[in-house]
Amino acid sequence: MTERVVSGKVQAEDAGLDFSLRPRKLEEYIGQDKAKESLAIAMEAARQRNEPLDHVLLYGPPGLGKTTLAYIIANEMGVGVKVTSGPAIERAGDMAAIVSNLQTHDVFFIDEVHRLSRVVEEVLYSVMEDFTLSWVVGKGLAARNINLKVPPFTLIGATTRYAMVSPPLRDRFTHIHRLDFYDSTALAAIIRRSTRILNVPTEEGGVQELAVRARGTPRVANRLLKRVRDYAQVRANGMITKQVALEALAQMEVDQLGLDDVDHKLLRAIIEKFDGGPVGLETIAAAISEEADTVMDVYEPYLLQLGFLERTPRGRAATRLAYEHLGIPYNRGRPTTQGPLL
Ligand code: ADE
Repeated sequence: MTERVVSGKVQAEDAGLDFSLRPRKLEEYIGQDKAKESLAIAMEAARQRNEPLDHVLLYGPPGLGKTTLAYIIANEMGVGVKVTSGPAIERAGDMAAIVSNLQTHDVFFIDEVHRLSRVVEEVLYSVMEDFTLSWVVGKGLAARNINLKVPPFTLIGATTRYAMVSPPLRDRFTHIHRLDFYDSTALAAIIRRSTRILNVPTEEGGVQELAVRARGTPRVANRLLKRVRDYAQVRANGMITKQVALEALAQMEVDQLGLDDVDHKLLRAIIEKFDGGPVGLETIAAAISEEADTVMDVYEPYLLQLGFLERTPRGRAATRLAYEHLGIPYNRGRPTTQGPLL
C-alpha cells in the first residue's frame, strides 16, 4: 500500500512527532467532550477511593486519539502504562505473564483489542472481573486449576471495530466510549496548539485550510501541518499563510475536503466500473488493489461521514454528493432492496 498523507493510520513519520504533540493532561485534550467528562468523573472517583479506574473500551476510526487518551489516563492517575496490541499476544501464557507483572493500578493498553485470539482473550475474563488469573495445569485426570491474584489494574482496550469485540469481553468494560470525527473548530484548535509546540509561524487562513482538509482526524491534521511546514520553509519564507497552505496541499494532491487520490480512485471505481453501486466491499477493494479491511477501517469511515458513500443492503453505493464532488453528472435513481447489510 502507498503511504497516504491523509490516512488515519500510524505511519513511521508520526512516531516522534506524535509524542511531542500528544497532550498529556485531560484539560489539554481538545474535543470528545462527552468521553472526556465521563472519564474525568470516573478518574476523580477512583482516586478518592484509592482504586484503579474501571476498565475502559475506546472505539472509533484510526487517528482520533484513543492511544493518546490511554496515556492521559495513566498520567492523570499517576500510574505506569504498558502497551501492546491484540495480534502481538500470541499465547495465553504471554497474556498471563504481562498481567502478573503489572504494578498496582497500572494502565494496561491493548490496541486492536478485537484481534486478540479466543484463548488469549479468555485469560482476561477472570482477570478483568476480580484480578484473578485462572490457569489449568496438566491434562485429563491430572489437570488442576490454579488461581493466582494479580495486582488491580485498569485495562484500556482500543478498537476500530466495535462489532468485532466479542460480547463476553465487551461486557467486562465499565466505560465504553465512541470517539467521533472532530469538527473543524476543534481541529483548528489542535493545529494552533501544534504550531505553538513546533514553533511554526502561521496565519489563521493557513490554519483553517489545514483544519477543513484534515478529515476530522487530529493525526491527519498534524501530519498535514508537518508537510506544509516543510513546503513553507523551502518554497516560501517559512510562514504558513493561506496561500502557502493552498499551494502545498495542491502539491500533495489533497483536495478541498481532504480526499486524496486513493479516495478518488475508490469513488471513481464504484461510479465508473459498477455504475454507482451497490457493490460489495470485496469487489471494491479488488478494483483498487487494497485489502477489504483497509477499505473498511481507513477509507470508508470518512467517505460515509461526508455522505459520499452509503451502505445499502446489497453493498456500497456512491451518492449524488460524490458524483457532484468529482464533477460527474448524476442521472440515476436507484431502487432500494431489503436484505442484510453486506
Ligand atoms: N493531538 C491528538 N489528539 C488531540 C486532541 N484531541 N487534543 C489535542 N491534541 C491532540
